[in-house]
Amino acid sequence: MKFLFLGDMVGSTGRDAVFDRLPGLIRDYKLDFVVVNGENAAHGFGITEEIFLDTIDAGADVVTTGNHVWAQREALSFCERHDNFLRPANYPKGTPGKGAYLYEARNGARILVSNIMGCVFMNPELDDPFACAEEVLGSCPLGEQADAVIIDFHAEATSEKQCFGHFVDGRASLVVGTHTHMPTADCQILDGGTGYMSDSGMCGDYNSSLGMEKEELINRFVTKIPRGRMEVAKGPATICGVGVEISDRTGLAEKIAPLRLGARLEETVPYFW
Ligand code: FE2
Repeated sequence: MKFLFLGDMVGSTGRDAVFDRLPGLIRDYKLDFVVVNGENAAHGFGITEEIFLDTIDAGADVVTTGNHVWAQREALSFCERHDNFLRPANYPKGTPGKGAYLYEARNGARILVSNIMGCVFMNPELDDPFACAEEVLGSCPLGEQADAVIIDFHAEATSEKQCFGHFVDGRASLVVGTHTHMPTADCQILDGGTGYMSDSGMCGDYNSSLGMEKEELINRFVTKIPRGRMEVAKGPATICGVGVEISDRTGLAEKIAPLRLGARLEETVPYFW
């Protein structure tokens, strides 16, 4: 199975680039399933239902989120209407929406996708992500109910991301980190067969600070006094993510490589596409 994950779309810059490039990628490379992180899609904070639907129209099969999931309050209601919208699974029981769901890929495979959030340096009030992973994977194991398992681990600390990857190694097809917005150079297949990348990178303007206009952020570091709003950087965008070849037999990763297309970073497409 040919799988693509695209990292956090930041504002109109990121989403316009995804809407522009994704349909061609799906067509040209015959992708079976695509997941896009959309938690920064609305002006950098959260996602609206309209943007979510546009992302699905562009070819995403699932949209994942993270700590900004509720920044646009309408997400609290529209998350209940769409099975292909995921919020972090380790919110308390009773939270609207879902954090994991079983989908059917274009090749007919059953694919479990889960969005789980780390707790180091962020959101310590959420449930333990490791215990959450046990529950999610236990309810729909790879090789039994699921032919592939994808986890978007939205976290700040690379150590937590790495330990999470090793923790579920052999039980997931891919663990991909999001939230830190910079693509890491550590794409690999772990000992047990799980594809892993600490951070997919974002889809947005890399001439920025994490996709936001750098001037105001520099000002805040220097003066400690906000001068204005944080705005999405509007320069030419680069889309970043990771491609995985998932074994139809085992559901584990056979090949993994980054994808970067656009203005600022060195372009690369998975070598096996
Ligand atoms: Fe985030």
